[in-house]
This record gives sequence, structure tokens and C-alpha cells, in this order.
Amino acid sequence: MTEKRRILTGITTSGTPHLGNYVGAIRPAIAASRRADAESFYFLADYHALVKTGDPARVQQSTLEIAASWLACGLDPDTVFFYRQSDIPEIPELTWLLTCVTAKGLLNRAHAYKAAVDANTAAGEDADAGVTAGLYMYPVLMAADILIFNAHEVPVGRDQVQHIEMARDLGQRFNHLHGKGYFTLPQARIEENVATLPGTDGRKMSKSYDNTIPLWLPANALKKAILGIVTDSRTPGQAKDPDTSNLFAIYQAFAGAQETAEMRKAFAAGIGWGDAKQIVFERVDAELAPLRLRYEDLIARPEHIEERLQAGARKARERSIPLLSRLRDAVGIRPLAARTARASAGATHAPPARATPASPAPQLRSYREAGGTFHFRLAAGDGTVLLRSRGFDSPKEAGRLGAALVAAGDDARAVAALLLESAPPDEPVSPTDAILAALARLKADRGS
Ligand code: TRP
Repeated sequence: MTEKRRILTGITTSGTPHLGNYVGAIRPAIAASRRADAESFYFLADYHALVKTGDPARVQQSTLEIAASWLACGLDPDTVFFYRQSDIPEIPELTWLLTCVTAKGLLNRAHAYKAAVDANTAAGEDADAGVTAGLYMYPVLMAADILIFNAHEVPVGRDQVQHIEMARDLGQRFNHLHGKGYFTLPQARIEENVATLPGTDGRKMSKSYDNTIPLWLPANALKKAILGIVTDSRTPGQAKDPDTSNLFAIYQAFAGAQETAEMRKAFAAGIGWGDAKQIVFERVDAELAPLRLRYEDLIARPEHIEERLQAGARKARERSIPLLSRLRDAVGIRPLAARTARASAGATHAPPARATPASPAPQLRSYREAGGTFHFRLAAGDGTVLLRSRGFDSPKEAGRLGAALVAAGDDARAVAALLLESAPPDEPVSPTDAILAALARLKADRGS
């Protein structure tokens, strides 16, 4: 099987979704997530939100609203990875590993930091006045978001391109220092043909211009907001130019080709602004109304969204835990008794099991129970059963966890996390020496 392309993007949870977010990010991302040749990772960047706001209630509310919005707009958490950044402890841990290979000078050149320094300097203040280390470290946290899942592509706006380049730099530097291809080097993908929606005043729709139309306004408030869009003073009967009209641009982002062509004609024929706005409202509302119903239902059940996010985190951590365990090993954070020390950078692990070559190999077997659920079982070389997994709905899920356990080998911490998910909920299993030894042996045998 060839590897699928991994597409990853994060949404900072510091605001309320608006029409511009919907047209520019949510709608295209959900369409892209249906591609069969790709794996999509969408996450709520709540650690990043802490750099932008100090208001805890806002972080929580925004996280809820953004999660509900993506789900209401049709994101299917079963086919994509949908999680909250702060539920993946491997991300902050990788942030530190990357911090230690990041040149301070690289961060001095980051746009957001430089802009803050320039503004301070212009105001005659100390260069770093009011600048937190969080703002300064923002690109490293973002690199960890991307590298922990080895994303190939990162769809972002132009303002984020430098951050993706930094993630490439840091990934490359780590690979170089530790002599292996630990990280895939990500590429920014700029959506050229996705509209940036103008706001009510004609500038780009953005919270910082205070010209947004919130995505989930009730229909009558949405109508009011659209009626409030700034237009020129041409009267009904006077021809209007669609190509300089923000109202037309908003219509175009929702209408099909034919509807757009008709509106273009209506502009030339001098449609009155009031009538045009009525048509725009009806078109936008026709698309949003069914989604709004779903949104209202979701937002009223935060515990349901929380559950979805927890499930998303479990699924994502099946990827992040094994990678982080390799990274810890790479930098020398290892169990002291582990015999997996590398002879030199780049050398493969000396398999610990080789110390007792004659002992029979442990076994990891998958099986299906009469009830139709899929399980796996880990047995020591002498046949002692060390772990019976809980039941999974699909063989793939069971297989993935089994493989993740083997990949974790004798990393007790990683194994413990995976056991939380693998063991039956009513029979928790902890990473005993026997389990760790069996997994280490399987890992070594598989690697040889
Ligand atoms: N910094 C991004 C923004 O403000 C959000 C973000 C955080 C992100 N981590 C990411 C985007 C990783 C892409 C990949 O838009």
C-alpha cells in the first residue's frame, strides 16, 4: 500500500467563526477531507490561542464553537483525524525537543515577533516590551503540530507560509542531527482559487477589521447584516460594476456559475442595492440554514462534542505516541536499563532480544470473537497470555493498536498510554516487565 498524503491544518481557538472562515477554510477543507488518497488532520489549536488571549472563558467558548462548526458543516470525525491540540501531550513534548535544536536567531526573524519589535521601537519602547515568550515560541509549537504527524501538506493563508518554512527547517535540522528520516518535511499549500471574502466594509473579512458576519447568526440577523453591507450610492436603474462590488463577491462565493452570470447581468441592468441584497441573503441562507440547525443541536450538547474530541485524540495518539517514543530515544531520553543504545548516530538499534537468541518468540495474534468484535492477544514465548485486548469494531483498528504497541517496544510510558486504549475498560493492564520484554522482542524481530 502506498502511503497516503497527510494534510494537516490547525485553527486557533480564540474567536467566533464568521462567513470568511466558512468560505476560506471550513468549506474547502471539508471538501478536501473527502479525498480518498489523503489523510486529513484538523485540530483545534488551543495552546496557540493562549498566545492571543488571556481570557479562559473565551478559549473554552471558541473551542466549543469551532468544533461544533466543523462538525455541523459536515466534517466526518470517523474518516479524518479531528482533535484538540491540548489533548495530545506529545505536541508540547516535541515542542521542547525542537526548541533545543532551534536557533534563537531564526525566531528573531519570525514576522509576528518582528512586527511587535518594530512597533515597540517606533513607539520608543524597549524592543521586547509586552512580548511574551509564548509569542516568540509560537513557530516552534506550530512546527511540533505539523511534524508530530509527519504531514506532507499544510493548507494555510499566506501569512502562515513562513511558519511552515520554519517547520521544514526544524524538521530537517533534527533529521540531520540525529541521522535519520524521523520527520517528513512539510509543504505549505496556498489555496489559490478559494475566495478571500470581503467584509461588510469591503476590506478582507477579518476580526481585526471588525467587519465580519458571524457564521451562525439566526436568519433575521443574517439578513440585517447583509443589508448593512456597504455599497456605493448608485440608484436603482443605474448600471453597477460587479467586479468592484463586495456584495457581488459574497454572492459569488455561494452561488453557482449560472446564478453568478445572472447576477452579473442584473448588475449591468441596474438592479437596486436593496433587491440585490435580498437575493444575496436568500442564497447565503439557503446554504447555511440546514447547517445552522445541526450547529444549534451540537452546541447545545457540549458533552457530545467533548466525547468526539476525546475519541479523536485517542486515534491521533496512536500515531503521535510511537513517533515520540522514537524521538525520545533519538535524543537519549531512554530507560536506563534499555539495551537499545545506538552504536552511533544513524545506526539501527541493537535488538535486545538477540541476547537470548534461542528463546521462542512472543506472539501478537489477532482474532475475531463470536460477537463479531476484533481483538488481539499478546503472549510470551512460553505461551503465557500477557494481554487480551478489548473488542474493536474493525480489524483495522485492532491491527493499528497492536502495531503501535510493537512500535513502542519497551518504552514503558508509550506502552502505558497504548494499554489504556487496548485493554478492556474494566480490566486495566499496566506495562509489566514481561509485556515490555515481549514487545521489545517483537519490535526487534520485526526490525531485523
Ligand atoms: N497559526 C495558525 C493560524 O493562526 C494556526 C495553526 C496552529 C496551524 N498550528 C498549526 C496551522 C499547524 C497549520 C498547521 O492560522
